[in-house]
Amino acid sequence: MNGIQIRDLTKHYRVLKRREGLSGSIRDLLSHNYKTVKAVDGINLTIEPGELVGFIGPNGAGKSTTIKMLSGVLEPSSGTIEVDGFVPYKQRRRYVQRIGIVFGQRTQLWWDLAVIESFKLLKEVYGIDDAAYERNLGIFNEIAELKELYGTPVRNLSLGQRMLCDIAASFIHDPSTIFLDEPTIGLDVEIRSKVRAIIKELNRVKGATVLLSSHDVGDIETLAKRIILIDKGKILYDGPTEKFNGIFGRYRTLKLDVHGLAEADIARLKTETAARAHGEKEIVFGEASGGWLGVSFDQDKHPLLDLLNPILASFPVKDIKVEEIEMEEVIKRVYEGALG
Ligand SMILES: Nc1ncnc2c1ncn2[C@@H]1O[C@H](COP(=O)(O)OP(=O)(O)O)[C@@H](O)[C@H]1O
Ligand SMILES: [Mg+2]
Repeated sequence: MNGIQIRDLTKHYRVLKRREGLSGSIRDLLSHNYKTVKAVDGINLTIEPGELVGFIGPNGAGKSTTIKMLSGVLEPSSGTIEVDGFVPYKQRRRYVQRIGIVFGQRTQLWWDLAVIESFKLLKEVYGIDDAAYERNLGIFNEIAELKELYGTPVRNLSLGQRMLCDIAASFIHDPSTIFLDEPTIGLDVEIRSKVRAIIKELNRVKGATVLLSSHDVGDIETLAKRIILIDKGKILYDGPTEKFNGIFGRYRTLKLDVHGLAEADIARLKTETAARAHGEKEIVFGEASGGWLGVSFDQDKHPLLDLLNPILASFPVKDIKVEEIEMEEVIKRVYEGALG
């Protein structure tokens, strides 16, 4: 059977428990004081061939570890994985012909070569025939306008341009399955949405199964029909994006610049705002970190101006920003039962 099947998958890392100071370091060397990190802690998934699935969760949730096991880089501690009929870490050589991988932090292209030379090298590496190669370059150009970048050395591309080339490269050998680990990391808003649109379009045109991870809620909302939410190595939600958006799409985080406000004033701001909202739970305050206080709220229940005007009338807030709900907030609300 094709697609992806994951059963009771775990990955445990054994890490040295560090002790403080020089004597601690010496004791670390002498005694092996290990602890186990359960990076992936018993997950089950079935992904149909051709599906585009968003894999989201906060930093440290286990996304990269899962993707490394799926791509055969890491062997599971227990459980089974099957991708397109392969056991990833066992049949490496044949398996890599069937998959494409993008890790957001690093490029798979050759730094000093022009983009087109990198693509030609991949053509040789994968043994792609001329017709298929030309057809794919045509598709990349149509969807992502890559032609204008072909002559540029990879090292001279902007981060966004490089990501587009990396994504195209992952499709170049017509793999059945593609893993993208945080492809939008570090990109600014505009190029992020372009990257998302291109991934979506390539998935549609090429029909490959695509699993894409992100620690940013906004990335997935419009991209995939299905989302898988992971935290602490466990799946918290696996279902339609629509349902997820139906609950979390209404939430916004109001950021207040509270530089120069006394602790007592910040505390009073919180109690007065919560009192007006009739209940603490609906309006959640973050830490006032870096001089910004985050206030997460449901904009259907509490229109922004109703929330903001009384605050501005009573407190010397210097600046405001409105952002989407933060991942940490989503996780908190899911544990409280938000997704039922
Ligand atoms: N090579 C490693 N050795 C030890 N611990 C690791 C290693 N890689 C990841 N971890 C730990 O495993 C957990 C999951 O990490 P990761 O899969 O990178 O999460 P994510 O990609 O969702 O941020 C984290 O607690 C992380 O610190
Ligand atoms: Mg990661």
